[in-house]
This record gives sequence, C-alpha cells and structure tokens, in this order.
Amino acid sequence: MTTLPKPRGPLSEEVIAALDTGRVDSLDVARVGDPEDAALTLWLLDELCYRGLAGVDDRLEHEPALVAVRRALEDDLESRLRARWPGVPAYDGDVAEALFAMIEEHDGPSLARYVQTEATADQVLELLRCRSLYHLKESDPVSWAIPRLPVAPRAALAELQYDEYGAGRPDRLHARLFADGMAALGLDPAEGAYLEQAPLAVLEQNNAMSLFGLNRRLRGAAVGHLAAFEATSSLPCRRMVQGLDRLGMAPEMQAYYEEHVQADAVHEQLAVRAICAPLIEAEPQTEPDVWFGAFSCLDLEDRVASYLLQRWDVA
Ligand SMILES: [Fe+2]
Ligand SMILES: [Fe+2]
Repeated sequence: MTTLPKPRGPLSEEVIAALDTGRVDSLDVARVGDPEDAALTLWLLDELCYRGLAGVDDRLEHEPALVAVRRALEDDLESRLRARWPGVPAYDGDVAEALFAMIEEHDGPSLARYVQTEATADQVLELLRCRSLYHLKESDPVSWAIPRLPVAPRAALAELQYDEYGAGRPDRLHARLFADGMAALGLDPAEGAYLEQAPLAVLEQNNAMSLFGLNRRLRGAAVGHLAAFEATSSLPCRRMVQGLDRLGMAPEMQAYYEEHVQADAVHEQLAVRAICAPLIEAEPQTEPDVWFGAFSCLDLEDRVASYLLQRWDVA
C-alpha cells in the first residue's frame, strides 16, 4: 500500500494533511494551480479507489470534500487532454480499420527502440521505475469500464482482462510478473515505492487512465485508450526484451515483456474489433470519445518518452 508522499505544492500539502488526519473540513477546492501539484493530488485521491493509502481511512474515498477536489482536478485534466486532441479524423467505411490506421500512422519518440539499441542499465532502471506506477496496477483502470459497457464489448473486455489478470493464476497476473521483474532487478516492487520520483508526464499518464475508467460518461475514452495501448505494445515489448537481453538484465523482466509480445498481438484485435467497434455500433454517441481516448494514450506516451529522452540527452 502506498504511503503518503512529500507534497509538491500547496494543494497536495493541504490534501495530504487532510488524508493523514481525516480532517477535511477546511479544504479549498478552488485551488487547481501548478500542474505537478495537481497531478500528485489527483493520483493520491484516485488511489483511494484502488488499493488505498497506508494510514488513511478507507471511508475518505467517498468523502464529499475530497470528491469535490477530485472532480475539480479531473475537470482540469480532461480539459487539458481535450485541448490537445485534434478531433475525430475523416475516414471512409470501417471504424476498426480507421482506428488501426490512425494508431499505425502516429509517429512518436520510442523509448523501446532506444532501450533495444542504446540505453544504459541505469536508464532502463529509471524507465522501469517510471513504468512501475502503471504496471503494478496493470489493467486495473479499464476494469472500471466493464459494467458500463453493452453486452458484446463487456464480454470481450472481460475476456481480455482475464488474460491480464493471469487467467486464474495469481503468479501469471501481469502486474505480478512486472513486480517479479522489479524484484529480480533489485528494485522495490511495493506499490507507490517510486511515486516520489514520478515526473509530471508519468503522473498525468496514469491519472488519465483513472479519469477514463472512473467516469462512466467517459467509457468510450476508456476503451479507446485501451485499443491504442494494446495496438502499440507488441513490437515495443519485443524491443524491450532485446534491450534487456543486450544489457544482461533480469530474465524475469524479459519474461514480463515476452509475455506481451504474443498476448498484445491478440489483445489489440480484441480491443479494436470486439470492444471499440461494437461499443460504437451499440452506442454511436461514444464514438468521439473512443478516438479521444486512443489519441490521448498515444500523446501521453509521447510526453513520457520525450521527457526521458531529453533527460538522457538523446536527440
Ligand atoms: Fe498486460
Ligand atoms: Fe494486453
């Protein structure tokens, strides 16, 4: 369970104090200021919906004053994400093919390609610490969407998630495979262990997934995000395996990525053809948000990649 981190500004300071003491009456919800302060605060409030925070009363998950802060932060994040989105592209015919084409044509910086050929072991460890925020709760954010979907995409998402959750075997849970890889590399596999070091781009990437999952009205964005995530996973995971192997790093972490080379080649088909397309067919009003979620996934990953590559002085 994540322990409360150091604040990154006045809002997180106030919210962390409220979480710590359970006294929430004096919270000032109007203060959404510095993006990093806001992102850490939203991450912590969302964590109350997942595994909770060490020493924090579980009942605070639905405490109205904290929900009001979460709502203000979610609105702020959503409007930022929407401002970055170019809108639904013009396409003829099949929405599934159009989604695949948009994802295929997207050309952003690739961390996996850098890991495959050039990264140092320290850079790979830094990347994995950043990734741990998501992979230790891998697939959890989109699970919130399951009961919110019509029958056909609900069945398909449950099928996909069954795989992500280890198909009945706790030792095969993807989050568990990643934790095993971290431990083998000498990293701390405890949830939230690297929250303090997570940069804004990583916090925002994670917050967006929770935003889409936790709001029923955004179910289109939740599955659109999933589609883009799965459809950009198989080849990069192959590159991660090769990079880890090149550096002689933990076979356990290689096994985590190896698992995704095959699995995500199947998952991308399920996500696009059996989840997104049938959702749009059953509920056409969700289509713009499917595209919005898919674009946001790609764009947020570009921001994480740009941040790390710049930090490492890679052009
Ligand atoms: Fe996975
Ligand atoms: Fe997957």
